[in-house]
Amino acid sequence: MIIGVPKEIKNRENRVAIVPGGVKMLVDAGHKVLVEKSAGVGAGIPDDKFVAAGAKMIDKAADIWGQAEMIIKVKEPIAAEFPLMRPGQILYTYLHLAAATELGHELVKRNISAIAYETIQLPNGSLPLLTPMSEVAGRVSVQVGAQCLQKHRGGKGILLGGVPGVRRGRVAIVGGGVVGINAAKMAIGLGARVTILDVNAARLAYLDDIFGNDADTLMSTPENIGNAVAESDLVVGAVLIAGAKAPCLVSRDMVRSMSPGSVIVDVAIDQGGCIETIRPTTHDDPVYVDEGVIHYGVTNIPGDVPMTSTYALTNVTLRYAMELANKGFEKALRESEALRLGLNTYQGKVTYSAVAEALNLPFAPMNF
Ligand SMILES: NC(=O)c1ccc[n+]([C@@H]2O[C@H](COP(=O)([O-])OP(=O)(O)OC[C@H]3O[C@@H](n4cnc5c(N)ncnc54)[C@H](O)[C@@H]3O)[C@@H](O)[C@H]2O)c1
Repeated sequence: MIIGVPKEIKNRENRVAIVPGGVKMLVDAGHKVLVEKSAGVGAGIPDDKFVAAGAKMIDKAADIWGQAEMIIKVKEPIAAEFPLMRPGQILYTYLHLAAATELGHELVKRNISAIAYETIQLPNGSLPLLTPMSEVAGRVSVQVGAQCLQKHRGGKGILLGGVPGVRRGRVAIVGGGVVGINAAKMAIGLGARVTILDVNAARLAYLDDIFGNDADTLMSTPENIGNAVAESDLVVGAVLIAGAKAPCLVSRDMVRSMSPGSVIVDVAIDQGGCIETIRPTTHDDPVYVDEGVIHYGVTNIPGDVPMTSTYALTNVTLRYAMELANKGFEKALRESEALRLGLNTYQGKVTYSAVAEALNLPFAPMNF
């Protein structure tokens, strides 16, 4: 199979979808790997490392899209890439289509076989290709939140860990999954007072077991969320309903109840966000103030730590890329339920129910 890896062009996105070790495995298995020149530079991988692993370096993204049977990316294609997509092409990347209506319609219109990293799901319900980026984003969310709380950044000027004799900062984390647990680890590590809210009682029990007295766990009800948000210096949005638009759990009134200069980091923004006042932002212009509260809504948080994220991501994406390349698209999907669940669009149809609902298009389950 001819596999293409274009350079990411989303704002400040420095990750790359493959590392030289992955190129070598694909080339050794008989495939041809085209990598766009300087695609890995932002992640600390120079072109010569890709060449040494057997990749062919290509000057222009258009030539990669034009030749490759399968495109492997990190982030969803943006408008400049839409015309490059070819009918029948396999696109293997993060897509988050529930929050990307235009892209969803383009993939349908252009007959793209689109496999979304974030909906590949194992029988135990876990999302193995979302996990490492959620680990990164959860950890970064508290780093970023702590900085935003500093006075010269516009925050109220509070140190999350406090000091002896002075109260600690308070952090509320809405959603105690992978993002939430990693945010909690960082916040607890900094010495903050942490509250984690989730709707899943078993998850709350697990969080209570591992964090003990270091964190409070609360059932995620509007009342509990309202109280936790009102007394927090930093709120982290971390909910997910797989493939669906995030539910709005923190209302504008709740945001208004926070003291001025508090901070909201809504990691769930890539699924539309779980805070009424959040909107997507970029690494170039990451924050804005609404209701006196600093909002951070960057949709590709891991892109800011590409040397960590590239390896964390490719550690988990490569095995499915190998399956797709070695077996071919249809056989790979026939033999892997996880990959079938990853399929979002195919032959002009939406094949993932929650995405169809969000895009207001018919749902067409595929039988292979
Ligand atoms: N912005 C970014 O750069 C970035 C990076 C990585 C992940 N994310 C996003 O972060 C979000 C969380 O991802 P994750 O991997 O932690 O998901 P996850 O499935 O591991 O965890 C989600 C948690 O939300 C909980 N939840 C569902 N409904 C809830 C409710 N009403 N109240 C409270 N909790 C509720 C679930 O029980 C679960 O524990 C996703 O939208 C993901 O796409 C964003």
